[in-house]
Amino acid sequence: MPRQLLPDTAETDGDGSLLIGGCRVVDLAEEFGTPLLVYDEAHLRARCQEAIAAFDGKVAYASKAFLCRAMAKLAYEEGMSIDVATGGEYGIARAAGVPAASLVFHGNNKSGVELNMALRDGVGRVVVDSFDELDRIEALVADGAPAPRVLIRVNPGIEVHTLDEVATGVPDSKFGFPLAAGDAERALARAGGSGAMELVGTHIHIGSQVFSAANFADALATLGPTVRGWGLDEFVVGGGLGVPYVTGEEAPTITQWAAGIRRACDELGITAAVSAEPGRSIAAAAGITVYRVGTIKEIEGVRTYVAVDGGMSDNPRPVLYGSGYETFLPRSVAAERPRTITLVGKHCESGDKLVVDGAVPDDLMVGDVIATPVTGAYGQSMGSNYNKVLRPPVVFVADGDARLVVRRETLEDLLATDLG
Ligand code: LLP
Repeated sequence: MPRQLLPDTAETDGDGSLLIGGCRVVDLAEEFGTPLLVYDEAHLRARCQEAIAAFDGKVAYASKAFLCRAMAKLAYEEGMSIDVATGGEYGIARAAGVPAASLVFHGNNKSGVELNMALRDGVGRVVVDSFDELDRIEALVADGAPAPRVLIRVNPGIEVHTLDEVATGVPDSKFGFPLAAGDAERALARAGGSGAMELVGTHIHIGSQVFSAANFADALATLGPTVRGWGLDEFVVGGGLGVPYVTGEEAPTITQWAAGIRRACDELGITAAVSAEPGRSIAAAAGITVYRVGTIKEIEGVRTYVAVDGGMSDNPRPVLYGSGYETFLPRSVAAERPRTITLVGKHCESGDKLVVDGAVPDDLMVGDVIATPVTGAYGQSMGSNYNKVLRPPVVFVADGDARLVVRRETLEDLLATDLG
C-alpha cells in the first residue's frame, strides 16, 4: 500500500502486519470487532498543528468531515475553532467542552431555533448565507439575543474542478450570496448597517476535493475587489483541499495550499486576516476502515465479489460520487496485490460497492481482515443505518494504546427512537 495513503504512524511489524499508533490492526479487529474505524491520533494532531501554523493560528476544523466528542476535543486542544453547520454538530462540539465562542456557525438554512441557541450562547461567528437569515438574526436580537459577529458568505460564481455534488462556488449553487447579481454587495451593506450584528468579514468556500491551486486563486481574484473595498478584518477562504485516495494521486499539503492562498491574497492587496476551514485534509488519511471478509463469489468471466460486514452504510462515497478507494490486507500490508476483486458490502443493493476493481494479494480468503485506507472523512459522518445495519465503533490509537471513542451501535440504540 503506498505510504501516503496510510496514516502517519503506520509501520510494518516483523511479520509484515500493519501497526498504526503502535497497535496491530488485526488485533484491533479481534478486540473491537468489525467493521471498525481506526484513527491515528498523532496524524490528526499533526494536521491540526500544520493548519494552525500555516494560517497563523486562525483556522477552524470543518466538523462535517468527521465529528465525535473526542475529535472536537482534539481539534480544540490543538488550538482550532470548530466549524459547525447544524444544531447537531453544534451540540456535539459543545458537549465536548468547546466554548461557543470557539464555534463558527454555518449553514444555508439555519433555523430560528439554531440561531437563537447560538446567539444566546455567544457563538464566535455566524457565517450568514441568505437575506432570510439576516431577517431572522435581526428578529432574534430585537427579542433580546446578543448581537453576533457575522461574516457574509459570498458565492464567487466560478468554474470549479471537482464533482458537481461538492462544487459550491459555481454560478448555480444554493450557497452564499451571488457576487455577479450584486447580492453579495447588498448583503454586506445590510449587515454593515444593521445594529443587530457586527460585520467582521467575508467568506467563500468553492467546493471540496479540489486539487487545483488555480481554482482557489481564481476564486480569490473574483472576490478581491469586494474584500478590498469593504476593508473588513477577516477573510475566510473555506475548506476544500483535496487528498489522494488512490495510488498515483497527488495533492498539495496544507502548508502548500495555505502558501498559495497567502500569495494570491498578497497579490490582490487583501490585507484582512486570512483563515480557512479544512475538513477532509485533516481527517481523511488519518482513518482506515477495517472489515472482515464473509463471502467470496467468483463469477466466471465477469468479476470476483468479495463481501464484507459493512458497506454503503459506513462509506456511502463510492455509491454517491463514484469515489475510488484502495483495499489491502492488514496482515500483510506490503504484499504484492496481483488479484482484481470488487469489494462489496452486505446491503440489499447492487450499488453497495466499496472498491471497484481493487487489487488484493492472491491468498485473500474468507475470514481475512481487510481494510480501506483514507476513509477518515465523510464516511462515519455520512453513515446511515440502511438495512438497519449497526454503525461501527471508532477507536483512536496512539503510542500503543487504543481508546474506544464511539462504541458500536446496538439494536437497543435503533429501537430507542422507535415508539412502536
Ligand atoms: N467550509 C465549508 C463552508 C464547507 O461547506 C465545507 C465542506 C468545508 C469547509 C470543508 O471542506 P473540506 O476541507 O472537507 O473539503 N460529502 C462530500 C464533501 C462535502 C463537503 C461539504 N462542505 C464528500 O464526501 O466528498
